[in-house]
Amino acid sequence: MKIYRTSDYREMSRTAAMILAAQIRLKPDCVLGLATGSTPVGAYEELVRMHRDGHLDFSLVKSANLDEYRGLTRDNDQSYYYFMQQNLFGQVNIRPENTFIPDGSQPDAEAECVRYEKILAGLGGVDLQILGLGHNGHIGFNEPADSFARTTHCVDLTRSTIEANKRFFEKEEDVPRQAYTMGIGTIMRARKILLLVSGGSKAEILKEAVCGPVTPQVPASILQFHPDVTLIADEAALARFDA
Ligand code: GLP
Repeated sequence: MKIYRTSDYREMSRTAAMILAAQIRLKPDCVLGLATGSTPVGAYEELVRMHRDGHLDFSLVKSANLDEYRGLTRDNDQSYYYFMQQNLFGQVNIRPENTFIPDGSQPDAEAECVRYEKILAGLGGVDLQILGLGHNGHIGFNEPADSFARTTHCVDLTRSTIEANKRFFEKEEDVPRQAYTMGIGTIMRARKILLLVSGGSKAEILKEAVCGPVTPQVPASILQFHPDVTLIADEAALARFDA
């Protein structure tokens, strides 16, 4: 695992955006695996800026998102579909038909998971996957469990995730209790992975994920087995690495 230590969130975001931009320039029709949450927002802002300055062309780029809340329609401002439109897709020249996100409004969970895995297979695999890190070690919405889930599946969100994500909703009851997520196997098939982590509240779990035992109780720990992971984390998130 390559580790970039940045001074703060802004530098983390810039570094991530530079790697993403390099990927797009090297392979203009690459497949990006995209994440939501507060962590990648700054990197998306940088990409939008690069695009506006005329330095970055998304016209051939394809993207597949990690996850989506089950039960939210696309026009719900808390859906990840909406998030991606606001933070990236609506501001660059990516073609809507080249962007893929699990459909949260699909009531048949099994059918939706099969459909999404087929889409991912059809894309020929993800070239560069961005990941954030949940406070309980989740990646995508792969929550701590007794085993690693291989493919896209429907999960029950844990108390800790509902608690962490309620800040985006009006009230806690509004946070969906389930989500669709790429599986750990799906994520591990990506050719390169970029793990972004910021802030002292993630310091403990980041140390566990990178230096602790590989266990489905800390889903991100599986990344220790991936051959090409780059971690970009700010000093606050890496604080426990000095200990
Ligand atoms: C969310 C998302 C994850 C994200 C994580 C961390 O629940 N499903 O993909 O990486 O939790 O979120 P944040 O970046 O806001 O801390």
